[in-house]
Amino acid sequence: MKITIIGTGYVGLVTGACLAELGNDVFCLDVDQKKIDLLNNGGIPIHEPGLEEVVARNRAAGRIQFSTDVAASVAHGEVQFIAVGTPPDEDGSADLQYVLAAARNIGKHMTGFKVIVDKSTVPVGTADRVSAALREELAARAGDPAASFSVVSNPEFLKEGAAVEDFMRPDRIVIGHDNSAEGEKAAAKMKKLYAPFNRNHERTFWMDVRSAEFTKYAANAMLATRISFMNEMANLADQVGADIEAVRHGIGSDPRIGHSFLYAGAGYGGSCFPKDVQALERTARQYSQDLLILRAVEAVNDKQKLVLGQKVVQRFGADLSGKHFAVWGLAFKPNTDDMREAPSRVLLRQLLDAGATVAVYDPVAMAEAKRVLALDLTPSELARVRFAASPKDALTDAEALVIVTEWKAFRSPDFDQIKAALKQAVIFDGRNLFEPAVMAEAAFEYHGIGRSILTRT
Ligand code: UDX
Repeated sequence: MKITIIGTGYVGLVTGACLAELGNDVFCLDVDQKKIDLLNNGGIPIHEPGLEEVVARNRAAGRIQFSTDVAASVAHGEVQFIAVGTPPDEDGSADLQYVLAAARNIGKHMTGFKVIVDKSTVPVGTADRVSAALREELAARAGDPAASFSVVSNPEFLKEGAAVEDFMRPDRIVIGHDNSAEGEKAAAKMKKLYAPFNRNHERTFWMDVRSAEFTKYAANAMLATRISFMNEMANLADQVGADIEAVRHGIGSDPRIGHSFLYAGAGYGGSCFPKDVQALERTARQYSQDLLILRAVEAVNDKQKLVLGQKVVQRFGADLSGKHFAVWGLAFKPNTDDMREAPSRVLLRQLLDAGATVAVYDPVAMAEAKRVLALDLTPSELARVRFAASPKDALTDAEALVIVTEWKAFRSPDFDQIKAALKQAVIFDGRNLFEPAVMAEAAFEYHGIGRSILTRT
């Protein structure tokens, strides 16, 4: 099928590349000329395992093209995916200006029948606004009198770092459409497009548009709730003398609870959970509802991002001037260079505010960290941050090692080397990577999250 993808960010680029991989003819549009030039020269603007290969293969096969030409993009696709950003407004609601601008562009140029797919995470009711914007544009011009469209909602559930895999092996495909004649026609096209995923068993959930839009928010809000719940339990476990990892196993074995997404840590970050939780709260407020649980989820997460730094201060004192720390992991999670809402940014702020100097290392996010920290920090604060060349290099002369992201490369480090490089054998582990008993045997002072019973001396 001929597909257009509007927006070559995370969701757009992965969707475009994967649909091309299935044999579709994909046209990717972006307003950012630099990004398009990069993509046309074989580059990839984000770090995402496997994506570069899929894009290269399909570019070589002529199944995917990148352009800033709006008219050509509208002409190309019988299905037009809107996958542009929906950044939070000042009040936390999703800013729809890019989504609506994309809709208007389609309305300005379209002929015949088009399926418009909302792929970006958008608040309930957005499809109606997209329809209205399209109708307005169609009414304002003397274009094709037979031009018609239907807007469907097809939210994306992919995880950064596993995006290609998630797209290619979805656990569910959610499609919301209306039951007008156009809506049914659009559903038939979506069915054909996603048929390769439904071969072994049906993975598509068909529903009305608003339910599909809501599903995405409810899923992310539920997952964020699990994390905040476990973080709150971990902090209490620290106080009462219980091991949160034992508790995690104990509760996860109940199939009603399940094992996934129960990891206490340094708090959730990224482009989705913080933004989507806020946007859902904001939507609720528009309907005079106060989502008490989600308010707590957010507050607990903000607090959780402070926990690692607080543990450092508790151990080394409120005045950290003259003290130097090693930080491993800057991205908000492994396998990405994304630093949006990353807990590492809060930790660095705390350490620098207390007067410390730091050496930081991340396997892929160093360039992004330099960019982001230059915005977060003043020049004199930035001067107290050294960007290390390797995990080992970061350790030199540090009082302690603080781990913020659970990269695989940090899971089995050379503990002798760590001990030799650090001034003191102290590790603060924001992701519970190591077993306290093993650390004790290796003669480390070890501070995990919610495991103090095992490390008390
Ligand atoms: C998430 C959803 O998983 C995905 O379905 C949706 O489309 C977008 O949002 P993503 O933000 O890429 O994906 O990352 P995810 O792997 O879900 O992790 C989010 C955050 O939660 C990370 O900061 C991670 O460290 C944290 N997390 C996750 C925990 O702290 N504990 C856990 O048990 C799981």
